[in-house]
Amino acid sequence: MLILCASIVIPFSSVKAADSAKGKALFQTNCASCHNVHKKLTGPALAGVADRWPDKKLLHQWIHNSASVLATGDKYANDLFNEYNKTAMTSFPSLSNDEIDDILEYVKVEGGKPQGPKVVDQPEGAPDKGNDNSLLFGIITLILAVVALILMQINSNLNKLAGDKEGVPTPDPVPFYKNKAYLALIILVLFMVGGYLTIQGAVGLGRQKDYMPEQPIFYSHKVHAGINQINCLYCHAGAEKSKHAMIPSENICMNCHKAIKEYSGPELTTAEGKKVNGTAEIAKLYDYVGWDPEAGKYTKPGRPIEWTKIHNLPDHVYFNHSQHVVAGQQQCQTCHGAITEMDEVHQFADLSMGWCINCHRTTKVQFADNNYYSIFEKLHQDIKDKKIDSVTVEMVGGTECQKCHY
Ligand code: HEC
Ligand code: HEC
Ligand code: HEC
Ligand code: HEC
Ligand code: HEC
Ligand code: HEC
Repeated sequence: MLILCASIVIPFSSVKAADSAKGKALFQTNCASCHNVHKKLTGPALAGVADRWPDKKLLHQWIHNSASVLATGDKYANDLFNEYNKTAMTSFPSLSNDEIDDILEYVKVEGGKPQGPKVVDQPEGAPDKGNDNSLLFGIITLILAVVALILMQINSNLNKLAGDKEGVPTPDPVPFYKNKAYLALIILVLFMVGGYLTIQGAVGLGRQKDYMPEQPIFYSHKVHAGINQINCLYCHAGAEKSKHAMIPSENICMNCHKAIKEYSGPELTTAEGKKVNGTAEIAKLYDYVGWDPEAGKYTKPGRPIEWTKIHNLPDHVYFNHSQHVVAGQQQCQTCHGAITEMDEVHQFADLSMGWCINCHRTTKVQFADNNYYSIFEKLHQDIKDKKIDSVTVEMVGGTECQKCHY
């Protein structure tokens, strides 16, 4: 029987070493929505799977098309299928055998690691928050001003002493708080500082860096996108395809939560330090969609979850996700911070005009061999002539007002 189905599978000819890093990427895009290496999700935990399937070819065939293995009547496969309530695994006819080996290598490497809270790397290229030095400068300015005042006072006292000695009558020095010139200077400085702060405040009105509203369900990105490595695009598919990244509908949650009824991961706390019961939060999801987990079916009409929107550009600004994520090759984390470490999402960048423009001035575009930019003949010529070696977003018009403003 095994020989029969093995003969369908293309025999392996390659001897290329499997690549765990490639496998990780493939796993995250194709498998992480149903599988975790260590934990049971919609499908089984995959750690040690190669040992459970002694026949490697059959395992490959399973991943290419699980139904074809079930059809052979293989006992192990059919028992597993029944154990998972006859949930059909997606077929992956387009994965090559090498790619499947990469995935299995990743599962092997990851499965060998001890389980524990994962440390997710700070994404490369994520800008530093930037130290705010203005307070320091303010204090130094103030100290210098006081020193200057004291020196001026000493100077006028010395003048008077010198004058008295020579018998030249000099008027008593006016104490500095009565001196009109000093007072005028102080008022001017206060006026300038006040004006600056008011304008800064007005420009920043409506901006809300670090904004972190309380959401109707304590939904943790750290649990989903971090620990369980669910791909951002599984829920925010729009980020690749359209202007808006989009918030996922409840159906997408239920793809997994029909099966995942309880939370057993690391302890969750709110920003204020209150403990959160993950299982109770999943129950809130059931209440929103009208799902009865005992009966395993929808028992009442659902209502939408009203997530509070966090990021919000003013209406006069045009921003397109797909342009940045696909054409511009920008990572989500560059603009949104280390989402995979956030239980609750907060706004990472200030979304100011200066923020957009700074990045456009410094970021290079994929210029060569890109039809989108074929119209920029002069820049192409400059590159050929070696006048410039790269092209920034600014050079293709990324700082022109009308590109960002309606
Ligand atoms: C739609 C959900 C889903 C996706 C996506 C999915 N699987 Fe599965 N997988 C399952 C389910 C469910 C089972 C359990 C058997 C069944 O019900 O068919 C399973 C079983 C398996 C098994 C056998 C596990 C064991 O313990 O023997 C392997 C191996 C496997 N999947 C690998 C993969 C790989 C690799 C990918 C990505 C390329 C993947 N799966 C994507 C749902 C999925
Ligand atoms: C399992 C689904 C899911 C995955 C995976 C996921 N998200 Fe989300 N995301 C949501 C939901 C639901 C919300 C709305 C609730 C909230 O703000 O926490 C959201 C909100 C956000 C927001 C804030 C939106 C706003 O209101 O302005 C950002 C930014 C975001 N996600 C980025 C990411 C990134 C980056 C990743 C990948 C590292 C990711 N998400 C992975 C479901 C998901
Ligand atoms: C691809 C599968 C998947 C999707 C889609 C998904 N979840 Fe989860 N969810 C999980 C896993 C895995 C856990 C962790 C279970 C554990 O560790 O025991 C989890 C845990 C949770 C928890 C408890 C921990 C926490 O974050 O507070 C809540 C609540 C939750 N999910 C809500 C949602 C909501 C709401 C959506 C839709 C926006 C959603 N989930 C979509 C897989 C998924
Ligand atoms: C170049 C910066 C940048 C990158 C890269 C980026 N975003 Fe955004 N994102 C933004 C801005 C700006 C907004 C606010 C948009 C608005 O208010 O119209 C936003 C809003 C969002 C929202 C709220 C819903 C919406 O569409 O307005 C989600 C969810 C989101 N981003 C997810 C993602 C994910 C997932 C990725 C990666 C695939 C990503 N973003 C990449 C800048 C970025
Ligand atoms: C992290 C860097 C980064 C940030 C931050 C950023 N952008 Fe961009 N932007 C890019 C890149 C890279 C491209 C080039 C994409 C391409 O090749 O088409 C681009 C292109 C654009 C374009 C198209 C320009 C053209 O010439 O066609 C617009 C419009 C735009 N961005 C708007 C914005 C706005 C509005 C913001 C702020 C809310 C912003 N961007 C923030 C990197 C960034
Ligand atoms: C790369 C995108 C981008 C370009 C190019 C750009 N802007 Fe802006 N602009 C923005 C964003 C984003 C905001 C919203 C800032 C905020 O909410 O504070 C903004 C806000 C403004 C405002 C409202 C004042 C404020 O701070 O809210 C004015 C006026 C303005 N821009 C004028 C211009 C002019 C004039 C140009 C051309 C010289 C220009 N912008 C080019 C992105 C851009």
